[in-house]
Amino acid sequence: MVLLDGRKTSQELKQEIAAEVAVLREQGKKVPHLAAVIVGNDGASLTYVSSKVKACEQVGFQSTLVKLPEETTQEALLEKVYELNQNHDIDGYIVQLPLPKHIDEEKVLLAIDPKKDVDGFHPANFGRMALELESFIPATPFGIMQLLERYDIDTQGKHAVVIGRSHIVGRPISILLSQKGEYANATVTLAHSRTKNIKALVLQADIVVSALGIPNFVTSDMIKPGAVIIDVGITRVQDASTPKGYRIVGDVDFDNVAPKASYITPVPGGVGPMTIAMLLKNTLLARKRSEG
Ligand code: GUN
Repeated sequence: MVLLDGRKTSQELKQEIAAEVAVLREQGKKVPHLAAVIVGNDGASLTYVSSKVKACEQVGFQSTLVKLPEETTQEALLEKVYELNQNHDIDGYIVQLPLPKHIDEEKVLLAIDPKKDVDGFHPANFGRMALELESFIPATPFGIMQLLERYDIDTQGKHAVVIGRSHIVGRPISILLSQKGEYANATVTLAHSRTKNIKALVLQADIVVSALGIPNFVTSDMIKPGAVIIDVGITRVQDASTPKGYRIVGDVDFDNVAPKASYITPVPGGVGPMTIAMLLKNTLLARKRSEG
């Protein structure tokens, strides 16, 4: 079994990005600038956003964190979005999800300029991605595709079972894996909460991508020997023995599944760090594209 080391791979990616930023700097060009908007005080969201901002510093990007209070109105958030759209210094930005319940997430995502939508959540980017046109690919599926490529995993004609149909992970990765390409061309089944006999389906999978958010959902009796296992789950479970009082667990029963797998991502340290690296990659792409 080979561990798909997202920490190491994301470090390599960040070094490559940092080298490109250094060249831009030497040429007297503007370096990429990412902004992140967060509304409210959700602990997990604050952690993710601060990791994204920290990663910007590591590669030499400029970054701006826009922290808005929980009671921010939809109008005020939309104003901020319009301001970021107009601000020529900002190459790309994200609005961290979930947003407070009184804000219509869809309205906000639609207001983001697709050229600055480095999350790839705008319908224009999603549609372009599905049609294999230039777009921003959402960071988590983009990170999974990078892991497959950098570990030279054969996906040609393989049966990939994706569990979960979210707009951020399950749906886009099912599209990407089925597209033409060296690390794609898979036959994809998209399983979800209404899927019948999910165990029988996953047992047929050469590649399993689980993006459900249910700890230990994928057990060893569901796995075909030699399967590639990608665990996208990141659930916080209480654990008084840790300094933070919680630990992060994936969807996969790692200890029992790993011995049967050919490749497997750990949680933490698998897909998570790749997501941040790919957000940086998208921001670099936004910078380059805006130069024409
Ligand atoms: N919430 C959970 N994942 C993400 C992400 O990738 N981007 C944003 N904006 N919010 C998220």
